[in-house]
Amino acid sequence: MKLAVPKERNTKENRVALTPDIVKALINNGFTCSVEKDAGVNSYFQDKDYEDAGASIVGSTQELYSDADVILKINAPETDEVSMMKEGAVLMSFMFAATNPGLVEACVKARVSTFSMDAIPRISKAQSMDALSSQSNLGGYKSVILAANALGKVFPLLMTAAGTLKPSRVVIMGAGVAGLQAIATAKRLGAIVEVSDIRPEVKEQIESLGGKFIEIDSDDAVETEGGYVKEVSADFLKKQAEAVALRVAEADIVITTALIPGRKAPMLISEEMVKSMRFGSVILDMAVSSGGNCELSEEDKTIVKHGVTIIGESNLPALLPLNASELYAKNISTFLKHLADKDGFKWEMDEEITKGSLITHKGEKVHPTVLPKEEAAAS
Ligand code: NAI
Repeated sequence: MKLAVPKERNTKENRVALTPDIVKALINNGFTCSVEKDAGVNSYFQDKDYEDAGASIVGSTQELYSDADVILKINAPETDEVSMMKEGAVLMSFMFAATNPGLVEACVKARVSTFSMDAIPRISKAQSMDALSSQSNLGGYKSVILAANALGKVFPLLMTAAGTLKPSRVVIMGAGVAGLQAIATAKRLGAIVEVSDIRPEVKEQIESLGGKFIEIDSDDAVETEGGYVKEVSADFLKKQAEAVALRVAEADIVITTALIPGRKAPMLISEEMVKSMRFGSVILDMAVSSGGNCELSEEDKTIVKHGVTIIGESNLPALLPLNASELYAKNISTFLKHLADKDGFKWEMDEEITKGSLITHKGEKVHPTVLPKEEAAAS
């Protein structure tokens, strides 16, 4: 099977789907691999590194796509990239298919089979393929570094001959994969860290990292499904907002990571709350591309409102391209080896990971999230 790794088109994207080490390992498994010229350069991998690993470097995008059996990417391709793929080729990348109908149609039309990295089921068996987690983890780390850099204060308590500096206070909203890494990073730098989440079961994880859980006194249970929030009552959210508002007013940095799968991100920081913050404090909104947790954040911009710096960087993993590509390459190659070997794909249509992540196949939409409601219910 011929694998192809294109150069990502988005100008803010520095990552690459395969690193030279992983290319070498796949070639040892019997695959052949072509890499588009300069595909890895923004992740600090040179064409020569890929050549040394056994890959061929291809200058023409058209040639790369039309010759490939499997295309391995980070971001969803644009429709003109899909039209260069040969019939029956397999695409593996993030797709966010439910919100990308144009791409799904293009793949159906081109009879390209697609596996979406974001649709891999979050089960223990698939943990090593879980690119959402590997990238969120790095995003959580970078969020603290960016916010710390924008703050005119140090994180730890510092006793100096010229006086004692108080430690910074960091509030983190959402203790999923990104939030937990943000807690660990802010703690390591010496800040006081307070954390809110609507899933009460994360209290222990927060405390084990040295954070303080902002507890809400409410009888309403939060409904969860597969580790994710499904439903939460208005009374709970009101009480949570009141408790969090008090902490935000005292914070030097607020990092928000709250997401609800399939829906717009919850709005957690109103303009009033921003106004209540100290002059010079910082908000970093990791949910900015899903609608934002802060009313004032703007995607891919850093703005100052009411004396507060609000960072809306939408692609934090791309700011750590070397590590992010290393982890992504490991995720996608493990996924590929689960689905296929050097001679072809297994197409085990009832197997859990295949079923959960296959979006289009043989000129048809197959994933429930892209099928009409009646067909999805029957699938
Ligand atoms: P996510 O990115 O969907 O959400 C981030 C966090 O925001 C979650 O902790 C959620 O509870 C929280 N949140 C939602 N609404 C909020 C609100 N109004 N206020 C404060 N917080 C709010 O979550 P992520 O990071 O993708 O993972 C969530 C969980 O999924 C993990 O903690 C884990 O339990 C499970 N998971 C399981 C995996 C596996 O078994 N392979 C892999 C990854 C995650």
